[in-house]
Amino acid sequence: MKLWGGRFTKPTNRLVEEYTASIDFDQKLFEEDIRGSLAHVKMLGDCGIIEPDEAKVITEGLKKIRKRIQSGEVEFSVTHEDIHMNIEKLLIEEVGPVGGKLHTGRSRNDQVALDMHLYVRARTLDLVQGLLGLRESLTSKAEQHVDTILPGYTHLQRAQPVRLAHHLLAYVDMFGRDIERLVDSYKRVNMLPLGAGALAGTTFPIQREQVAEELGFKRLYDNSMDAVSDRDYLVEFLSISSLIMVHLSRLSEELILWSSEEFGYIELDDAFCTGSSMMPQKKNPDVPELIRGKTGRVMGSWIALLTTLKALPLAYNKDMQEDKEGIFDTVETLTGALALMAPMVEGMKVNEKKMRENAEEGFSNATDLADYLVNKGLPFRQAHEVVGRIVLDCVQKGITLLDVDLGAYQTVCPLIEEDVYEKLQVSNVTDARKSGSGTARERVLEVLRKKRKEIDETLDWLNTVIY
Ligand code: ARG
Repeated sequence: MKLWGGRFTKPTNRLVEEYTASIDFDQKLFEEDIRGSLAHVKMLGDCGIIEPDEAKVITEGLKKIRKRIQSGEVEFSVTHEDIHMNIEKLLIEEVGPVGGKLHTGRSRNDQVALDMHLYVRARTLDLVQGLLGLRESLTSKAEQHVDTILPGYTHLQRAQPVRLAHHLLAYVDMFGRDIERLVDSYKRVNMLPLGAGALAGTTFPIQREQVAEELGFKRLYDNSMDAVSDRDYLVEFLSISSLIMVHLSRLSEELILWSSEEFGYIELDDAFCTGSSMMPQKKNPDVPELIRGKTGRVMGSWIALLTTLKALPLAYNKDMQEDKEGIFDTVETLTGALALMAPMVEGMKVNEKKMRENAEEGFSNATDLADYLVNKGLPFRQAHEVVGRIVLDCVQKGITLLDVDLGAYQTVCPLIEEDVYEKLQVSNVTDARKSGSGTARERVLEVLRKKRKEIDETLDWLNTVIY
């Protein structure tokens, strides 16, 4: 017998049951569903909407059911469609007809919204924690490599030398913005939709504030129709998650390139790589490749939900049941990626020699020669032209700017003097970039200290919010 069977004259077609059911995936929400019901029934009892001893019986019943589901003994049924009705059915079997009082003043529409708010709220904090761990690993690695110099690239061509710490700190800032976005979204996740009923509110004298307090929600929805049909916080979660994956994917791409023989900048730890079934020499960076590869499905879930929502009239529509699988899949994908990236960064071996050789080999100090001439009074455009000619000559001879002798320099430009060789050393080249957000050693050390402070601030924030 269905919980809503009264109005029907025939049993539901089996294919319809299977097509409309969500229990296969929304059983993931059982903890949230029971937690929400416990708060709801307590309020019903306290407000005298049901008898206090009825509330007690229902509470005990719900706790028993939670234990049974946790132990894996419960078999959910498609006949009862979703997690909400499966649990209600179990409750009525457990405590008798009084269990039917739990749903007083509530609809599945505000119930499912509550479950998703609880679920995403906890996962938002998990993601902040995961990102914090990754920021910590990247910052530690950066601290170890303040004096490791590699070429910085534009267009994947060697451009100007940078400190490895500086390169890694760029990712620390990307993941820092991701944390900021999650923290900001948290206030929109941390809202109580319960009390909206099906869409228009309820006739019972409920106390939403009590339920909000019980569940730690900081705000209540002002509009019941919005409360049951708002999925913005899920779109935001998927959008933030997509960007996190894009950042992880860019980092992955660098790890893959850097660990290739062509670059030879790093070696990933054996524990984080896999072999080839045919080629015995292979050590493949499967983990960063898969993180890069899985980015697409998270972006896909975001677009899928936006598309589901774009033409929905108010208020609840069954289309909204489609919000769940993308969210669950995204949580799983991101949790896995973050858990692997942090130790992978920590465990990678850096080939400092190869990095420096490459930084010295190219013409990554050419801008500095131009700046040198500007300091001697030449307009930048002219300096650019002069250095361009010198570089062309070096390319033809197969030498670097440090190999050109002073006489040869002075025939091209008499402004060049002996001190040029000191200026063109890669470490001096990086340290000359002191202004703004540059790669000079003193700037990098300053930023490292700032990042340590930011990490502590995020930890403090986490301690102020509840699960
Ligand atoms: N399983 C549904 C969902 O996930 C729960 C809400 C259903 N409400 C309804 N009136 N059919 O959206």
